[in-house]
Amino acid sequence: MKKKTGIVSLILLAIFGMLQFFRPEKLSNSPAGDLAGIPPAVNDILRNACYDCHSSQTNLRWYDQLTPANYLVYSHIRDGRKVLNFSKWDSMATPAQNSALYYALNKIMEGEMPLPAYTMVHSGAKLKPADIEILKKYTFSRTPRGKTDTVQINMANKEYVDFIQGKLAPVTKVAPAPNGIDYIPDYRNWKVMSTTDRFDNGTLRIIFANDIAVKSIEQHQTKNWPDGAVFAKTAWKQQVNVDGSVSAGAFWQVEFMIKDARKYAETAGWGWARWRGDKLKPYGENALFATECVSCHQPMKDNDFVFTKPLNLLIPTLQNK
Ligand code: HEC
Ligand code: HEC
Repeated sequence: MKKKTGIVSLILLAIFGMLQFFRPEKLSNSPAGDLAGIPPAVNDILRNACYDCHSSQTNLRWYDQLTPANYLVYSHIRDGRKVLNFSKWDSMATPAQNSALYYALNKIMEGEMPLPAYTMVHSGAKLKPADIEILKKYTFSRTPRGKTDTVQINMANKEYVDFIQGKLAPVTKVAPAPNGIDYIPDYRNWKVMSTTDRFDNGTLRIIFANDIAVKSIEQHQTKNWPDGAVFAKTAWKQQVNVDGSVSAGAFWQVEFMIKDARKYAETAGWGWARWRGDKLKPYGENALFATECVSCHQPMKDNDFVFTKPLNLLIPTLQNK
């Protein structure tokens, strides 16, 4: 019996040895400097926890380089660099830098980054609550909230009441989007799936889901949405009130994603449409506007192009931490 196990181990070892002749395509690797204008404590956190996948410089440990693990490691690095590369920091405009930090903070707070598969092996990259606090404080400090003036507040309040009552623009007068999609006034009655406070660019957003999408959420089916699922994302300018509280100010836009795998096969299975301002002006010169939507949603292709995680499904992950 013992002898048999010995032989099996030897065979496995031989296979493992042979596997080492197979290697993924080589990774480029060049030194990545600190982010200009960023406090050293913040730089240290990002370098320690994120740079391996989100900069041009990857510190590969010996165990990262063994086949077959290296195939997974390399693909994480390639995908990570594609969506966020801190080595390009200097060439990014300030709003783009702010939004990169905003999303970085969000992914960290949701427990998605650094990738759990990575921290399992590289435990030193796990972020401590104190690190997260430093990142949070710094990210907030880059875009302090200003105060909104009273005239604007009054206008926005009236507009908000009109919105709630469905009087924002007479529905009959809302022109369709350039790709032929009609405005869907009913979204105001849908369930709220999530909400985001984009303090980095001064907007508040609410994401609504229609009945079909809600049913899918209840069944925890949030990777492939069924035909008929529709999301609406509304955005308001943030209004900072006299008492310092933040509420929804002027209406900025509403946009939709309508799932129909066949009908919208050319635009990733979704019909895209956006209306701007309280006059609900259709967005885009012609039907090609949707390529802009699809390309920015592209990083979420494994999630059926949908960014938002339903808040109710997020809660368990928040509690696990
Ligand atoms: C082991 C590699 C790895 C590490 C380490 C890592 N990431 Fe990622 N990251 C990825 C990959 C792969 C993706 C793209 C796929 C995905 O979203 O899962 C990604 C996506 C992201 C995105 C989404 C970007 C977009 O536009 O969709 C953000 C933001 C992000 N990471 C931030 C961070 C931050 C901040 C850290 C450090 C605290 C970090 N990541 C550490 C691999 C990594
Ligand atoms: C610059 C990148 C970008 C572009 C361009 C973009 N989106 Fe999005 N979209 C996002 C992000 C990020 C979210 C996640 C919610 C948030 O952070 O506000 C989102 C969320 C959405 C949602 C809610 C469902 C989801 O995926 O979370 C809808 C609906 C939506 N976008 C429609 C559109 C339409 C229609 C267009 C084109 C007219 C468009 N988007 C263009 C980045 C983009």
